[in-house]
Amino acid sequence: MTQPTKKLRKKRQKTDAQRIEGGKKCLMSRRAFLLTSGTATATVMVAMNAGDAEAQVPAQIATYPRKKIAKLSELENDVPIDFVYPDEGAYAEGMLVKMGVEGGGGIGPDKDVVAFNYFCTHQGGPLMGSYKGDTKSLGACPLHLSTYDLTRHGILISGQAYQSLPQVLLELDGDDIYAVGVFGLIFGRYDNLQG
Ligand code: FES
Repeated sequence: MTQPTKKLRKKRQKTDAQRIEGGKKCLMSRRAFLLTSGTATATVMVAMNAGDAEAQVPAQIATYPRKKIAKLSELENDVPIDFVYPDEGAYAEGMLVKMGVEGGGGIGPDKDVVAFNYFCTHQGGPLMGSYKGDTKSLGACPLHLSTYDLTRHGILISGQAYQSLPQVLLELDGDDIYAVGVFGLIFGRYDNLQG
């Protein structure tokens, strides 16, 4: 699998940082989150100019699947639930947790339910089992100790990584929680939907 170059990863990180720049609380609107995180598998017709003539040509865009991953009523504070998203491919494992405090991108009555991919953005260290309820963080990574703040879109608290942990975008439909997108590039992928 082709790994993104360091330069490309840095550029994407910068773009992500620009999107989530701001304060400590929920840093972007839900609409902005959807607009920046969605890709789509659908064929659309786009206009192309060829000389004086304008032609309609098909173009492929991709979209994230909508996958039910938990029930709100079954969540307990600071007890993570594991899931796999956006596919069954490499590095798709993630966790959902009700933190008990509001988080950026959080859903539910208290906006405290968030979800993240489990793989450290530095070199892919596995973060399973590393959630800390007292600090609402994931880590330290077993490889080089990176730790991520889940209340602030997975931004790095400390360690070797320079990119936030990919956040899984959630939607609440009644009592059902759906994963509907990923914000940030999953480790080991050049495209989140090409796992
Ligand atoms: S792989 Fe996680 S800090 Fe290096």
